[in-house]
Formats: sequence, C-alpha cells, structure tokens
Amino acid sequence: MTGWRERFQLRLWNAVGAADTNHPRMNERATWLRTHTCGELTLADEGREVVLNGWIENHRDHGQIVFLDLRDRYGVTQVFADQDTAAADDGLFDTLSKLGSEDVLSIRGVVRSRGADKVNKDRSTGEIEVVAHSVTVLSEAETPPFEIVDQAEANEELRMRYRYLDLRRRPLVEAMVKRSRFVTAVRTFLQDHGFLDIETPILTKSTPEGARDYLVPSRVHPGKFFALPQSPQIFKQLCMVAGLDRYYQIARCFRDEDLRADRQPEFTQIDLEMSFVEENDVLDLVEGLVVHSMKEGFGIEIPRPFPRFDFDDAIARYGSDKPDLRFGMELIDCTELAKKSDFKVFSAAVETGGIVKGLLAEGAADKFSRKQIDKLTEFVKGYGAKGLAWGKVTDKGVEGAISKFYGGDAGAELIARMGAKPGDLMLFGADSSKVVHRALGELRVQLGEQLGLRDPNEFRCCWVLNFPMFEFNDDKGIWQYAHNPFSAPVDWNVGDFGVDTENIRSRAYDFVMNGWELGSGSVRIHKPELQARVFDFLGISEQEQRENFGFVLDAYQYGGPPHGGIAIGVDRMVTLALARESIRDVIAFPKTATAYDLMAEAPGGVSPEQMAELQILSTAKVEEDGE
Ligand code: AMO
Ligand code: AMP
Repeated sequence: MTGWRERFQLRLWNAVGAADTNHPRMNERATWLRTHTCGELTLADEGREVVLNGWIENHRDHGQIVFLDLRDRYGVTQVFADQDTAAADDGLFDTLSKLGSEDVLSIRGVVRSRGADKVNKDRSTGEIEVVAHSVTVLSEAETPPFEIVDQAEANEELRMRYRYLDLRRRPLVEAMVKRSRFVTAVRTFLQDHGFLDIETPILTKSTPEGARDYLVPSRVHPGKFFALPQSPQIFKQLCMVAGLDRYYQIARCFRDEDLRADRQPEFTQIDLEMSFVEENDVLDLVEGLVVHSMKEGFGIEIPRPFPRFDFDDAIARYGSDKPDLRFGMELIDCTELAKKSDFKVFSAAVETGGIVKGLLAEGAADKFSRKQIDKLTEFVKGYGAKGLAWGKVTDKGVEGAISKFYGGDAGAELIARMGAKPGDLMLFGADSSKVVHRALGELRVQLGEQLGLRDPNEFRCCWVLNFPMFEFNDDKGIWQYAHNPFSAPVDWNVGDFGVDTENIRSRAYDFVMNGWELGSGSVRIHKPELQARVFDFLGISEQEQRENFGFVLDAYQYGGPPHGGIAIGVDRMVTLALARESIRDVIAFPKTATAYDLMAEAPGGVSPEQMAELQILSTAKVEEDGE
C-alpha cells in the first residue's frame, strides 16, 4: 500500500464498504470501480456480475422501464432497468429518473443477452445489455453546450471552445487511439532499426524552414529572444557530427505562417537523420517505416515499392511535384503536332517558346456539358491559363471547340497522339511550360475528383527527387533556397551558383501520398566551404552567417559525416489515413485558422509586471479578452 492510487482507492473502499461480488478484484477495490470497460462485454459474459463506469450518452426513461447507454473511450454498453430487476435497491428508480446526459455513473448489474432480434450490430457490445441492480452517481453534468454525437452538428468554433467535450465524440476518440497506435508503431520500427530517440531544444535559435518564428523573450538576457524551433533541423545535423549515427524524434515544430486545412502553427513531425547514407538508404528505410506503421496504426496496406520520379519528370507527366497516383490521366505532350496546327492558340504558343499538352478523360465525353466545360475553363484560368481547348471524340472524329481545326487527318493524328477513343473527352493547354503544367496539373486532380477516381480507401505513395536547389522570389527579386539551405547539390562540384541557377538540382526529396506532400528531406551538405558558398549565394553576409549559423559551420570543421534525413508530418499522415477533412480533426487541442486557442484563450495578455520583468514593451493596443 504505497502509491497515491492505492491510498485513494482504500479511502473510497472504506467509504463505500467492502465488495460482495464474484469478481476477484472486488475483494480489494472500492465497489464503484469498474470491473470492465463499456466496450468489452459480449455474450460470453452472460450471467456475470459487473460494474461499469462511464458517461450517459443516451437516456430513455419509459416510466417503469429505463434504458441507458453508458459510454467510455472503449465503447458503449446498454444498461436496462425495470421494477423487477431493481428490487434489490429501493432508491434505484429514483436515482435513474434524475439522470441526465453526460452524468458520470457507476452501474452494478448482471450481463444478459438481448435476444437475437435486438442485436445492435454497430457496437462491439451489441449482443448484450447490463441489467442494473444499483447505480452510483460519480459526477453530475451540466447540459453540454452541444450534443455529443458522432456526426457533429454544432459549429467547429463552439466545439473547439469545449474541446474536452468534442473529444468525447467517437470520431475524435478514434483519431486519438489510432494516432497513438501509429506513433507507437513508428517508434518501435525506428528503435528496431538502431535509431536513438533524442530530444532537441524547444528554446533555441531561429531555424531556416521559411516561416516566421515564434519568439520567447528572455528574462535573464534582457532584450534577447529565443525562437521556438520550426524544425529540429540544425540539432539533428549536429547529432550526426557528434557521431550519434541514427537520430529520430517525434518532434513538435512551431511555425508562424498563414494557416490552411493542412497547416497548424504547432504540429508534429517524425524527424530522422542518418549518417553515411545516400538518398536510397533514407528512402528504403522510410518506405519500410510507412508500410509498417500505416498497417499497425490504421490497418492500411500500402503497395511497395513507392515509385520514384525525378522532379522534372513528375512535372512533365503529372503537372505536379506531388502526383496523386490513384489514377493515371498523365499529361500528353502535343507540342510537335501543335506546331503545324491551323489553330492559332496552339501554333502561337509553340512559336513563342511554349508547349501544348493534353489530358484524356476516358469515357467522359457525355459526363461534361458545355456549361461544365466552361466551369473547367474558369478553373484553369485561376491557375494562369488563358483558356481551355477541348474536343469530344466520336465515331466521326473530333467534336467541340477545336473541331474546326481538327477534322480529317489532323483530327485523326491528334486522336492517335492522345490515345483517345469514341466517348473520350480531350482537354488542352497551350502556354509557357510553367503555366501549362500548373493549370493541367490542377485540372487533372479536379477531373480525378469529379470522375470519382480518387478513392479515399486507396493509398498510393511515391517519391519525388532532385528538386531545384533554388527558387526565384518574384516579389523580392532574389533567389531563395527551395528546401532548406543545408540540402546538398546533386553535383558536389557545382561551380558558380549564379550560373544557370534554375537548373541546379539539389539532393532533396519529397514523400507524397495521394497527392499530399507528407514529408521532405535531403542529403545534406557536410563540407563547410560548400555550405558557406550556399549562404554567400543566398546573400547571407558573413556576419549573419556567424551570428545565425556560426556554431553549425564550426561543427563541420571538426569532421561531419555524409548524412541525410527526412521529416514526415504526423498530423497530415493521420488525416489522410482516416480520410478526415482537416488536420484539426486529428489533433487533440488544435488552434483555429487565426492561430488562436479558443478553449485556453491563448495567446492572452500578460501583466505589466511580467512585461517589465522581461524588459519588453508592446506597441499594440491590448484588448481585454484575447480575440
Ligand atoms: P518541411 O518544412 O518540408 O521539412 O516539413 C516536413 C513536413 O512537415 C509537415 N508540415 C506541417 N504540418 C502541419 N502544419 C504545418 N504548418 C506544417 N509544416 C510542415 C509536412 C511536411 O512535409 N527540416 C525539414 C525536414 C528535413 O529536411 O529533414 C522540414 O521541416 O508534412
Ligand atoms: P478562342 O480562339 O479564344 O475563342 O479560343 C478557342 C478555344 O481555345 C476556347 O475553348 C478557349 O478556351 C481555348 N483557349 C484559348 N486560349 C487557350 C490557351 N492558351 N490554352 C488552351 N486553350 C485555350
């Protein structure tokens, strides 16, 4: 009798009195404590005396007969009472009649079969009910601000304000249970493959992942700030310099960026790094990790190996660096044919250095009216296209917008190039290669959705490799790193980064599932001279390099092994696996689209004393109540 739990139980036991039951635990435990969860009783338990603890999900009082659904994390069990069965406890009906939704109860009773005709097949406990002999109210509940049902009807804001109630809903319980199982499987797999779980600092310096930092003022160093990590990138690289060889962390990352359905200001990564490796070592390991943990966490089988695309190839074939491989519909290059076309839209695009590509929507000719095609045209215009040329294939040839120019041989040639047959719809983009790929890439996904080709129960992964090393920022008029400044160039001996910059490729790769970027990583630069040259090219002055990354550059002076790694977004992966709409649906306590915690009302104001202690002033007008 040592721990708080035992002492607590003993007190209750003394209060409630010794147990009188056939369950072995009842001789030493308080009588109200559960013998079973609400999700485990079956016909095999018929006749057994049990105690269940849980919340009232549903309460049907028919006067002389009462039905209750008692809920806990594990499931729901039906409880039954009538005058006969309650004979042992005079007060039972009195208590039952006063109960309301979400009251917390202990029910003692006997398991009984419901009878074949009354089985509820949607529940693990659907074959039985517990006939109540006594009830203890452990806690009374106010009427909740919204009904706690599987299909939430209350708006999300209200539910986020009372997140602890929302978390009682089965879809959220399922997300928490499976997420936990998934993360456990990840840990087991990595542990089995020699990775060390290493914690890196949360109070640290800015990490270059491209978002704004969350800053924490230092009290002991007035005027100085910690930054919360956008990722553990620098520290995991230093773990490699340290010789720790294989690092992983289920890491919390913080990024102050514009939020969308797939972004939160704090989120979780499976972050890992490996020494003495090339791309294939990381990719092979992660494939194993993904297949194992998706199976363990969600029971999802993922076909292996994951196809590997060169970045340029992915763009050319799918118009995207995150191709959804659940369906084909690849972009078909018609530039050669278009050169000699009478259709000015096509020939002019080619003459000015552009391209013409087509998409083939098989059997879709009669699924899209002219009006619907107009909608698709508006859709691609949203991605910079000037229009959308189209033709329907019939026995007689091409019909539709481009039929004038594609009768006879020209039509036959186009149909052959597209591999089309009667009943198919052909759609074309003509413009610069950038615009065509972007517009048709988005259109491909849109068509896949409209044609029902994106099965949420199918999971197809791929890798995209050799991303551009730098991206031109049109607004700022400067080159920036595309992945992060530590990614190695494909050519270790690359000369001047300023020459042919857009064609310099880095050893960065993305992990993609069903058209979602779930992970990114790279083989890193491990030579300090090369790292300094990258920083130079990015316009980061020597002084800034010293201030921000001095310790990293120094570290590599002492022997950095070749290494590489990746980070995979846990929230996104769970969202996809469970076919949820937003990553908020798989995070226990998420923030709103304005990065606000409605429940805790964070961020909140702080007292003038605290500000003074931290030696900071605010220029903002502080509002009384958060938002
Ligand atoms: P990156 O910035 O691409 O790479 O992030 C890796 C993965 O993290 C997830 N992710 C997010 N999930 C939710 N909300 C966000 N705001 C958010 N931002 C990113 C995505 C993404 O693919 N240090 C590098 C990794 C490396 O090079 O090893 C990094 O963080 O799923
Ligand atoms: P127009 O000659 O402008 O009437 O266009 C004829 C057809 O070509 C229409 O279906 C337009 O949507 C389409 N179109 C116009 N510009 C482009 C373009 N750059 N790429 C593809 N289709 C286009």
